[in-house]
Amino acid sequence: MASFTLKINGKKHDVDVDPSTPILWVLRDHLDLVGTKYGCGIAQCGACTIHLDGAAMRSCILPVSSVEGKSITTIEGLSEEGDHPVQKAWLEHDVPQCGYCQAGQIMSASALLNDNANPTDADIDSAMSGNICRCGTYTRIKKAIKTAANS
Ligand code: FES
Ligand code: FES
Repeated sequence: MASFTLKINGKKHDVDVDPSTPILWVLRDHLDLVGTKYGCGIAQCGACTIHLDGAAMRSCILPVSSVEGKSITTIEGLSEEGDHPVQKAWLEHDVPQCGYCQAGQIMSASALLNDNANPTDADIDSAMSGNICRCGTYTRIKKAIKTAANS
């Protein structure tokens, strides 16, 4: 066990955990931030995507010891009122089906737009290719990203 001070959604949190614990489980089991989902545990599905210093990262493979001092954003901290342009576009296009993958999809999409305000189809495909949706909402995801980019 070791102590870590983490900056998550603009607030500091102290946790006492094994240094190899993936940040996904610190978020979910220690801090009750359960919007970030577990899918595969091996960086293959994107359900666990968070932002680390603004970039999309798979939290299931990131040990807590590697994220101390970095700025972590989860779906809960993307916007205060759930009104980030990507979230608004998601509602407009009624993107989710079962919803399980959607926090990860939104975190990847918002990281893409932070980096590239006007992505091409190829940019979107490349940025979103690691986010799997078993319900097949890909067409609506792409439309919503374009709407958010133009808002
Ligand atoms: S749970 Fe992390 S990528 Fe699947
Ligand atoms: S909405 Fe069901 S897995 Fe994506």
